[in-house]
Amino acid sequence: MKKITVPDILKMKVEGRKIPVLTAYGFQMARVLDAAGIPVLLVGDSAGMVEAGYENTLPVTMDEMVYHARSVARGRSNALLVSDMPFGSYQVSISEARKNAVRLVKEGGAEAVKVEGGVRSAEAVRSITEMDIPVMGHIGLTPQSIHKMGGYRVQGKGKSSGALIDDARALEDAGAFSVVLEGIPAALAKEITGSLSVPTIGIGAGPWCDGQVLVVDDMLGLNTDPRLPKYVKKYADLKTVIQAAAEEYIKDVAEGRFPAKEQSY
Ligand code: KIV
Repeated sequence: MKKITVPDILKMKVEGRKIPVLTAYGFQMARVLDAAGIPVLLVGDSAGMVEAGYENTLPVTMDEMVYHARSVARGRSNALLVSDMPFGSYQVSISEARKNAVRLVKEGGAEAVKVEGGVRSAEAVRSITEMDIPVMGHIGLTPQSIHKMGGYRVQGKGKSSGALIDDARALEDAGAFSVVLEGIPAALAKEITGSLSVPTIGIGAGPWCDGQVLVVDDMLGLNTDPRLPKYVKKYADLKTVIQAAAEEYIKDVAEGRFPAKEQSY
């Protein structure tokens, strides 16, 4: 398998090949997903909820993102590594945005960074791309805007659909190499996808995006939250598998079956 680069991702859109993306936060999972052939690994700031148990993504720090990105970088061989810029790392000033993007590349091993927001983030996106750091945009249901949105709600219904089209165009004009469309009606995602020359990556945005992204713990059935979003498809039930293994181990130790001769020196 060949190392995937940003130009490869752009080419996939031109050739009409779909772009599968999964999140990863650690070394072992990155190794497994890379071996499966995933072209893009996203170190999402969803790490804060999935790995650290925060209520939302807002508390995630740059140091935490660098740690997760570095762990994933060591585990992957071929996948393009995109790291989220956490809340507060690109909104305060352009110089902070540039400094933090550089940290994710230099210390985290990221090959691209992801920034939430369209028109409002376009200046930061332009400035980061001017340093030759590729940027993935992210519009629609942007989790870092939870307080403004009043919860995780589908965006772009009715009148606000025009604003989302403007957001997508602003990101492309600012140099973004791709745009995540999260939690928007499928028909609107189709329209945006058709109007951009860079790929769109959907999550809860229907089947017509150029690629799709899922949070890996959701698709593997590791997320124990009963309120999983409608867009999640469970490809495995690892929670049940892991719990059963742990129960068997507990019993084995309690009843003296582990360690046996094979596991002893
Ligand atoms: O943080 C994240 O994992 C994300 C994706 C779900 C798009 O932003």
